[in-house]
This record gives sequence, structure tokens and C-alpha cells, in this order.
Amino acid sequence: MSDDSNRELLHHYTDADEAARLRTGWFQLEHARTQELILRHLPPAPVTIIDAGGGAGAYACWLAARGYEVHLIDPVPKHVEQARAASVRQPQYPLASAEVGDARHLSHTDSSADAVLLLGPLYHLVEREDRLACLREAHRVLRTGGLVWAAGISHFASLFDSLSHGFFDDPAFAPILARDLEDGQHRNPTANPIYFTDAFFHRPGELSRELLAAKFKVEEVSAIEGPGWLARDFDRLWADPAQRERLLAVVRKVEREPSVLGVSSHIMAIGRK
Ligand SMILES: C[S@@+](CC[C@H](N)C(=O)[O-])C[C@H]1O[C@@H](n2cnc3c(N)ncnc32)[C@H](O)[C@@H]1O
Repeated sequence: MSDDSNRELLHHYTDADEAARLRTGWFQLEHARTQELILRHLPPAPVTIIDAGGGAGAYACWLAARGYEVHLIDPVPKHVEQARAASVRQPQYPLASAEVGDARHLSHTDSSADAVLLLGPLYHLVEREDRLACLREAHRVLRTGGLVWAAGISHFASLFDSLSHGFFDDPAFAPILARDLEDGQHRNPTANPIYFTDAFFHRPGELSRELLAAKFKVEEVSAIEGPGWLARDFDRLWADPAQRERLLAVVRKVEREPSVLGVSSHIMAIGRK
């Protein structure tokens, strides 16, 4: 990551409230589905998990509370402080560690982890070589048979987001969308944090090819939200337990449908060493 990209990342997350994000709007679907995709493959506790790009600790603290030994790293000091504070709030199940760091250079020894979560770094690293460095580092620290969960943002996310969430006609967004659709390189020259920050948006096949290039076997590639994040009146559906279950059931039903994968905001590739 260049100094400029790092500055941009710190600037973005200083404004954005990452600690609260997963409790609002369609991010709640991202949260529930990510948990589901983690639990689908994770071996029972106690095993060692590295959450690289763990943000404010939403998944790390949830997994620690389930009895896992969880180490969080993140390059944003504010996130690490938030994760440490969340860990203090669950004194019986604290994080094993929470440190400022970069997923491309883990301090952990070879073959010391059973699972690595990369739920952020692969879309923030805009150069393929940096994403491969991150995946190779996850491969290095995993024991043979260990698993990586690699989240990407869909190449088409800006298109569906702008159409369904009401900013398709913002002239400031038009060039952002055009470039996303051209080469997946997302840049936000506006001061509007809703338009995110420097990122790379994967086609589903690109994400799995990057795992293969880092010597992982690909176990699963699934849509995280599928088309569910586009639901009109999402909050009303999510607040109704029966409708929430229906929504989750249809997302599950189409999660691996190749023609639907790119509609999802996020895509999860799960690889095994
Ligand atoms: C949108 S947040 C997601 C946080 C959390 N993993 C989640 O899924 O809710 C993306 C995170 O990736 C982190 N990140 C970006 N580049 C990274 C890198 N090179 N190494 C580790 N983390 C990185 C950011 O600081 C941020 O906390």
C-alpha cells in the first residue's frame, strides 16, 4: 500500500463509524451471512484464528465469545482501540491480542493458525501483487488443512448500489461508477464517505483465481448478501422475524448461482491450505 493509499485509508476510517456499521441497514445482512459462512467451515473451538483487517472487532469478539483464541490486526489505530475496548467488555472471553498491523506482514510464525479471516484487506489492496502478498502470508501462517475466508466487493457493486439506493443520478458518482465498471479500480475524489475509499472490486472468478495463485484449494465461493441487500424497504423486512428468515433462505438458495454472484455487494471465497 503506498503512503497515499494508507493516508486515504486512515482518513476514510476516521470519518466512518466502522464499530456501528454492521448494526445498520443492509449491513446487518452482511453481518449475519458472514457469520453463517464462517461457521459453515470453522472447526470447533478451541482453535487459533487470525482476523487480519478485523476492524473494530465485530467478528473477532464474537468468535472469542465462542471459545476461540482470536488475534486481531488492523492498520487503523482507532479500530484496534475499539476492538480492545470491545474485548474488555467481555472479560470472560477476551481477544488473545489486538495490534496495529498489515495483513501482508503478519508477526505470527509459520503454520501457527487454524483459520485466517481476510474480511477487508483484499478490497482495500488495489494492486494484485499486494493482494497476493496478503494471501501468501495467510497461507504461510496457516497449518496444513487450515482455512482462509477472503471477502471481496463485487465488480458490479457500485452499479446496483447507486441504482437501488438513490444516487445513480449524482453527477459526482458517474465517473466513479464508470471506472468501477471499466477496471474495478474504485476511487472516491469526492468528500462524501458514503462513496467509500480507494478499493479494488473483484469479479467472482478473479477472487478465486487469486486464492489459487496463492496455493489455496478453493472450497467455496458464495455471495454474502446475494440480491438481498437491494431489497426495497430492507429495514422493515429485517425487523420482521418471519420475513428475515425468508430473506436469508432465498439468499442461501442462490448463494452459488454463477449468474447471480456479481449482484451481491460482497463475495466470500473460502480456501484451504
Ligand atoms: C470495511 S472494514 C471491515 C472490518 C471487518 N473485517 C468487517 O468485515 O466488518 C475493512 C477493514 O480492512 C482493514 N484493512 C485495510 N487494508 C488492510 C491491510 N493491508 N491489512 C489489514 N487490514 C486492512 C481496514 O483498516 C478496515 O478495518
